[in-house]
Amino acid sequence: MLPLHAKRIVLGVTGSIACYKAADLASKLTQLGAEVDVILTAAAEHFIKPLTFQSVTGRRAYIDQDLWGPEGHVLHVKLGKDADLLLIAPATANTLAKLAAGQADNLLTLTALAATAPLMLAPAMDGGMFDHPATQASLETLRAHGAQVHGPVSGHLASGLSGVGRMLEPAELAGHARVALSAGGPLAGRRVLVTAGGTQEPIDPVRVIANRSSGKQGYALAQAALDLGAQVTLVSGPTALIAPVGAHLLRVQTAVEMRDAVLALAAAADMLLMAAAVADFRPSQAADKKIKRAEGVPTVELAANPDILKEVSQQAQKPRVLVGFAAESNDLLANAQGKLASKGLDMIVANDVSAQDAGFEVDTNRVILLSKDGGQEELPLLSKYEVARKVLEKAASLLK
Ligand code: C5P
Repeated sequence: MLPLHAKRIVLGVTGSIACYKAADLASKLTQLGAEVDVILTAAAEHFIKPLTFQSVTGRRAYIDQDLWGPEGHVLHVKLGKDADLLLIAPATANTLAKLAAGQADNLLTLTALAATAPLMLAPAMDGGMFDHPATQASLETLRAHGAQVHGPVSGHLASGLSGVGRMLEPAELAGHARVALSAGGPLAGRRVLVTAGGTQEPIDPVRVIANRSSGKQGYALAQAALDLGAQVTLVSGPTALIAPVGAHLLRVQTAVEMRDAVLALAAAADMLLMAAAVADFRPSQAADKKIKRAEGVPTVELAANPDILKEVSQQAQKPRVLVGFAAESNDLLANAQGKLASKGLDMIVANDVSAQDAGFEVDTNRVILLSKDGGQEELPLLSKYEVARKVLEKAASLLK
């Protein structure tokens, strides 16, 4: 199931050149499963056509004239009442001022007055207009009324100047919408701690012992936990992935750094999902200068790293649900069962990393969920996000 399945978003688009990015935002929200009803103001129509939005949402896009059409007397009330979120992106200084004053002189502002859903605003305008006390006062009033304001950010502006005024990027706005729409989900009020990626163990200042973990499954778990309404902390090894909007990200490099971070956070967490590929060994002494080839082939002596999950499971104060991952290339079930017991886990997610379409680096995974009570559920080949949803749903049921 798509993360925003059956969620209704009214996307208000007002007259800023950032309108062209609003089409991308509408597309992203639709791809996440939301039903997106777009309302353009008359000024927005100068920049972009309703057809652009209709083409990406598969739904009618409304223009100001619709206010005076056959449905005019009910349209704003219907759109406003049906919405789970009213997102205005881009939001101009003019629309912000109207909303703050409670004016309702077009279909969008009228709908905003009729709506009971949370209001999210993504201002976009020239830096000077944003800084103007009138705009700042509008935003202050709107915040006091409960609106969430995201951006603007600093950078190149259409005026040719640079400053604070750019609309936040569509991917980030879609992330904020996702967080807002997840409020009250099955993990609302729960703290979920997720580890992801591989650790790196320094040999010298330039070389490390690393592994092939991409972090994709762990990042998908963090996203799935957010989508179920949890407060999420993501402890991540080095990876190029972008953390999901709403997750609190802590970056670490080594297994020992990951252990310290996890132990500091575990006592307050309801659930730990340990998806990181933690190096079992580290060079016992990293050289403080780059090892030179001319010095001959070095011998690197290794020391054992702490077993983070085992340490957590031995703490007096620990998460109610502990989930481990077993990446195996042989004897999958026997090895996973052994780890479930020896590490004191509630569930283990076993995957065969020798398969081409599952495990490291790829976007899909094929796993078996084993639980403490002997339960065994074999999942088909799924996207890493779908695997994450299944894992989270099962782990959430163990919390009850
Ligand atoms: O023992 P093995 O590494 O196969 O166990 C895998 C599980 O244990 C994973 O959930 C991994 O994150 C965790 N682990 C750990 N500390 C280690 C090694 C693995 O917490 N040093």
